[in-house]
Amino acid sequence: MIGNSRRIDSSQLGVDHRLTDLIARYRVSEYLKPVAEHTRDAFEWLCDQADLSQHQLLLDSGCGTGASTRHLSGGVAADPALGDQAPTLFIGVDQSAARLRSEQWDAPGQRDGDVILLRAELTDFWRLLAEASVRLAHHYFLYPNPWPKPSQLQRRWHAHPAFAAVLELGGRLTLRTNWAAYAEEFAAALDAYGHPGAKATRISPDPPMSPFENKYLASGHPLYGVCYDLG
Ligand SMILES: C[S@@+](CC[C@H](N)C(=O)[O-])C[C@H]1O[C@@H](n2cnc3c(N)ncnc32)[C@H](O)[C@@H]1O
Repeated sequence: MIGNSRRIDSSQLGVDHRLTDLIARYRVSEYLKPVAEHTRDAFEWLCDQADLSQHQLLLDSGCGTGASTRHLSGGVAADPALGDQAPTLFIGVDQSAARLRSEQWDAPGQRDGDVILLRAELTDFWRLLAEASVRLAHHYFLYPNPWPKPSQLQRRWHAHPAFAAVLELGGRLTLRTNWAAYAEEFAAALDAYGHPGAKATRISPDPPMSPFENKYLASGHPLYGVCYDLG
């Protein structure tokens, strides 16, 4: 175990013992929940903005205000997952209009140069990308909601049936969290899906990349991360 996560109110210390069986079940079944209309609109709007096959794509899943998406757009040179062969689009997606302030928008998304912010339901959005055979260069999951109760296991990204679509999108995955068990579970989920060797580690980001990272660093939380190349 890489940490005791006293900052998260959960009875869980390490990887949930049900995770491997859960993923084994997902792997032999199809996830059929219909895609929300607003997410389909957001995806179509995105496809009207740019030919996704002609860009390197960085996806910031659960981008909140989009501050991290903008931050990442300034760091192309430092990102080993991004080459210089094609233009890059930095796509931030969040379900929360309040966080994105999308009430000021007249479209499902907002574009500022190579940064695009979309309001969409991620578990649907990932499936739409995978159905369209989109490939990502780098996929960020910065401080996802931890859903720390055992009854909430399937709400964590890696234990949700839509995570299979995330793996189809490929690229480099970067997860950051303030809950050690979440990072360990994320790595264990990759292994259960046939992507071995992911490791959860303590991280010390400097400078902070997102508002939640900033908040946790300022209050002295230990932080954890997983970086993994899906190829
Ligand atoms: C804890 S916040 C982290 C925000 C940002 N990544 C940061 O580090 O500052 C988690 C974000 O994920 C978004 N989110 C949670 N579930 C989502 C879903 N199913 N689809 C889209 N966004 C979701 C929330 O609206 C929220 O903005």
